[in-house]
Amino acid sequence: MTEPIKFFLPGPSYVPEDARLAMTKPMVGHRSAGFRELYLKLAEGLPKVFRTAGDVMIATGSSTLIMESAVLSCVRQDVLNLTNGAFSERWHSISKAVGKAADKVSIPWGQALDPDLVRSALRRKRYDAVTLVHNETSTGVMSPLADVARAIREESDALVLVDTVSSLGGAPVETDAWGLDVVLAGTQKAIAAPPGLTLFTLSQRAAERAAQVPHRGFYTDLLRYRDKHREGGPITTPGIPLVYALDVQLDRILAEGMEARWARHERLYRKTASWAAARGCGFASAANARSLTVSCLKPPAGVDPQAIVKGLAQRGFTIGGGYGDWKPTTFRIGHMGEVRENDLDALLVEIDQVLETVAAAAVR
Ligand SMILES: Cc1ncc(COP(=O)(O)O)c(C=O)c1O
Repeated sequence: MTEPIKFFLPGPSYVPEDARLAMTKPMVGHRSAGFRELYLKLAEGLPKVFRTAGDVMIATGSSTLIMESAVLSCVRQDVLNLTNGAFSERWHSISKAVGKAADKVSIPWGQALDPDLVRSALRRKRYDAVTLVHNETSTGVMSPLADVARAIREESDALVLVDTVSSLGGAPVETDAWGLDVVLAGTQKAIAAPPGLTLFTLSQRAAERAAQVPHRGFYTDLLRYRDKHREGGPITTPGIPLVYALDVQLDRILAEGMEARWARHERLYRKTASWAAARGCGFASAANARSLTVSCLKPPAGVDPQAIVKGLAQRGFTIGGGYGDWKPTTFRIGHMGEVRENDLDALLVEIDQVLETVAAAAVR
C-alpha cells in the first residue's frame, strides 16, 4: 500500500487500491464451490476481529439493516435504548418504528454512557434487550463498553445489542469476554473496505431468545442468517464484489494483528490530540470519552468549521463536517482504517495552512 491517504471522512473511510481492484474480478455464482470457499475463509477469519469463538455473519446492506434486524429478532416487547448521540438515537427510532415498547436513558451529546445510570434503569423495569453504540461517530465519543455490558449483565438478563460500526477494527471490542450478544459493524469504517456489507455476531443465548420472538421478518431474521451461515453461505445473493474487497482487507487486518491495529489507532488519536491542543482546537467529546477512530473538534475561536472543510477540499483533502446539531460548531477527522501516521501528519500540515489562510482573510 503506497498511495498517500488524503481521505479522512469518519466513514466511508479510505479503501486501499488492491481492495478496490478486487471488486473488478469476474462474478461467480453465490452457491458455487468457488464462492463457498471464499465464504468459509471469511467465516474463519472474521471471528478473530470480533474476538469470538462464535459465528460472524456477513449481511449485504448497511449497518442500519442489522440494527433493525437485531431489534426485530431479539426484542419480544421491551427494549432500553441508551442514547448519547445521533446513532444511538437511531436505535431508539428503529425500536419505535418496528412497534416495540422502547424506553431510553439519554446522556448529553459529547458524554460517555454511564454504567451507573444503566444499572438504575434496569432496577426499575425488566427489558428483553439494551441497545447502545460503542463509538458515537457523531460526537467522537467512545463509551466504556466493557463496563456498560457488565452493568447490564449483572443487573438483568437483557440481551446486549451493540453497534461497533466505527470502532471494530480500530479499538478493542471483546465480544465473548465482555458478554456481548449482538455486535454489528459496517465494513466502511475501521475495516477500510467499501460500504455495503455489515458483519455481525449472534450469541447462543440471543439465538435461543430470538427463537421465541414472533414476526422476526424474513430478510431481517438473524436466525436465518445464522442457519445459512452454518451451511456455508449467505441468505440471499450477496454483494459479491464487496465480499472480494472484504477478503483483501481481512487478510491485511489479520496480517497487522488486532493489538497492533488498536495501538496504531491510539497513536493516531494521540497525535491528533496534541496537534489540537497546540492549535487551540478543543475536543467536543469529554476528556474521559475520546474516540480512538474519530476526533470531533471545535475550531479556534472565530473560525467557521465549514471553512476548514472547504479549504481542505480545495487542497484535495477530505475530512468530515459536524453532524446534526453540531454541524455549525465542530469538524471531524476520521483517523481510522488504514490511515498511517505520516498520512495524518500531512493532513495536519494542510489544516494549519487552511487556518492561516482563514485567519489572514479575517484580518483583511
Ligand atoms: C456509529 C454508527 N452507527 C450506525 C451508522 C449507520 O450506518 P449505515 O449508514 O451503514 O447504515 C453509522 C454511520 O455512520 C455510524 O457511524
